Amino acid sequence: MEQILTIRGKRFPISIPASSQAGDGAVLGGHPLYYVIKQPNATAHYLEKLSSLFVGIPPGQTVFEFCGGIGLVPMACWDVMSPASWISVDIDPSCAASYQEPRATAIVGDMYTTPIPEGTDVVICDFPNNTLPKMWREEQRAALLRRIAEFRPRYWEITDVGYYWIHLANHWPLYEKQFGERPTRENYHLLFDRYMRENFGYTVTKWTVGGGAQYFLMEAVC
Ligand SMILES: C[S@@+](CC[C@H](N)C(=O)[O-])C[C@H]1O[C@@H](n2cnc3c(N)ncnc32)[C@H](O)[C@@H]1O
Repeated sequence: MEQILTIRGKRFPISIPASSQAGDGAVLGGHPLYYVIKQPNATAHYLEKLSSLFVGIPPGQTVFEFCGGIGLVPMACWDVMSPASWISVDIDPSCAASYQEPRATAIVGDMYTTPIPEGTDVVICDFPNNTLPKMWREEQRAALLRRIAEFRPRYWEITDVGYYWIHLANHWPLYEKQFGERPTRENYHLLFDRYMRENFGYTVTKWTVGGGAQYFLMEAVC
């Protein structure tokens, strides 16, 4: 079976292994292929959004991607970025078997323990279910962010779903305690920028939203 993702007008065929039984067999919820099988248009939309962050950055960057899954991000970004190299790490070994971008390298590993390779220019964090409060409330997540900030990549991308949750009142106290203000769809990117500046010395230079998440591209504050 094949699924076509159309991104920036270009068609990307994704082969779906027969064992996945169209999403009801080996590929279960949470697996990136499930999303491709069930919602190809939403998947393409998210990839178009995320890849748009990298329009205009100089070609030849060395990219390291946490939560690389089945390689949809390098597939969508390659023409936009013309990277020198790209390594993805994902904890699920079945993702590497379905990896879609032959010019990139997929490795199996836990993002919390996998080192960032020397010489990396761009770090991409396509985290599942990341939100700003997770970034300070979950110690493992906070430690990973500190490690990335200390590595000091030239460009740093984080995917975050908080934008889609902040209409729920139970989230407000978490933000109010941290920032002294309630989060809204209008200020979420400002809160994100403030958190990254104050805690990691990175500032949001570009952001976009759609396809179920918000995507932030950051550069180090000089
Ligand atoms: C939002 S998906 C990313 C999809 C990816 N962009 C792709 O092209 O398939 C999140 C991915 O994070 C991976 N993941 C979750 N926890 C992880 C961990 N601790 N270390 C590495 N990968 C992890 C999951 O296996 C899943 O493939």
